Amino acid sequence: MTSYNLFYLPGDGIGPEVMAEVKRIVSWMNTQGIAKFETDEGLAGGSAYDAHGKAISEEHMAKAQVADAVLFGAVGGPKWDKVPYDVRPEAGLLRLRKDLGLFANLRPAICYPALADASSLKRNVVEGLDILIVRELTGGVYFGEPKTITDLGNGQKRGIDTQVYDTFEIERIARVAFDLAKTRRNKVSSAEKRNVMKTGVLWNEVVTRVHKEEYPQVTLEHVLADNCAMQLVRWPKQYDVIVTDNLFGDVLSDVAAMLTGSLGMLPSASLGAPDAKTKRRKSLYEPVHGSAPDIAGTGAANPIAMIASFGMALRYTLGLGDWADRLDAAISAVLAKGLRTKDIASEAQPANATTTQMGEAILKELQAAA
Ligand code: IPM
Ligand code: MG
Repeated sequence: MTSYNLFYLPGDGIGPEVMAEVKRIVSWMNTQGIAKFETDEGLAGGSAYDAHGKAISEEHMAKAQVADAVLFGAVGGPKWDKVPYDVRPEAGLLRLRKDLGLFANLRPAICYPALADASSLKRNVVEGLDILIVRELTGGVYFGEPKTITDLGNGQKRGIDTQVYDTFEIERIARVAFDLAKTRRNKVSSAEKRNVMKTGVLWNEVVTRVHKEEYPQVTLEHVLADNCAMQLVRWPKQYDVIVTDNLFGDVLSDVAAMLTGSLGMLPSASLGAPDAKTKRRKSLYEPVHGSAPDIAGTGAANPIAMIASFGMALRYTLGLGDWADRLDAAISAVLAKGLRTKDIASEAQPANATTTQMGEAILKELQAAA
């Protein structure tokens, strides 16, 4: 049996609590001989800052570099609001994305039928929703230089962020989106702001060319990013795959998350380019939600986004797609049986499960299906 090396970075806030539910599933799969997972654990974010003054240490970066998959919880919290910008908790996550070359961020927003009433939108708008946001993750305004605040000397300061994209960055993320669309409903919507931004003009041009030359059989439409946000709350089922830049992807995926009932439901996969020799892609899997410091330690966190992120690792990195399907089915079954953490509760289906109870119930379903 191939053995895989998983590197846990639970992070801050509810990160360790939701990660504990993944660890439970990983140990069970190990004891059943379903897979051979070697696991190791490190610190990222505020917890890393507290331990060694950096948002992630060199030692833990090196471990992340060699891991088959990094499983990441969440980082940040008010405790670290005042730490220097370069070592703020989020810097650890951004460095992982950049140094591992994880340019493709896949954020599937699926509304489980049982949760249609937990969304703030009407049931018919979200029920059965299954869209995929493909977010560019290592470029754009997140990393562009200059990125500064300068003192203008007249009582004014100037803040600068730089949005920058090169052709190859747009080409490779477009290919990821088109390839995934072919396995789904064969439609890509490319979102940018070409009416205001030069990067948007280039984005539009490059996506159009890649489509024409390499994927003419896939349906492509272009949408302005602000309009895309509006369409997502108006009638999200018009979309299949949405491909967009780093910043628009950040915003649009939070919108998409709420369509599923809760931010606590959205998993993500961040993938690098396939290695020329081994074909292996570096990868990191993380829930889209944050560290939710307000509920940390109360047992209220929903572990589903974290567990589903592990499911994406099974599918995209570990070659265990059948187990990814079973895990998704287990999540769906638990929800259908009425189990709810606070974030996905509704009047008809009040909260009745802690983080651990939700994790245990999902594992139980998985065991029953084994
Ligand atoms: C996300 C988060 C991160 C981002 C933060 C924590 C840096 O919001 O993954 O969506 O902005 O990318
Ligand atoms: Mg975000």
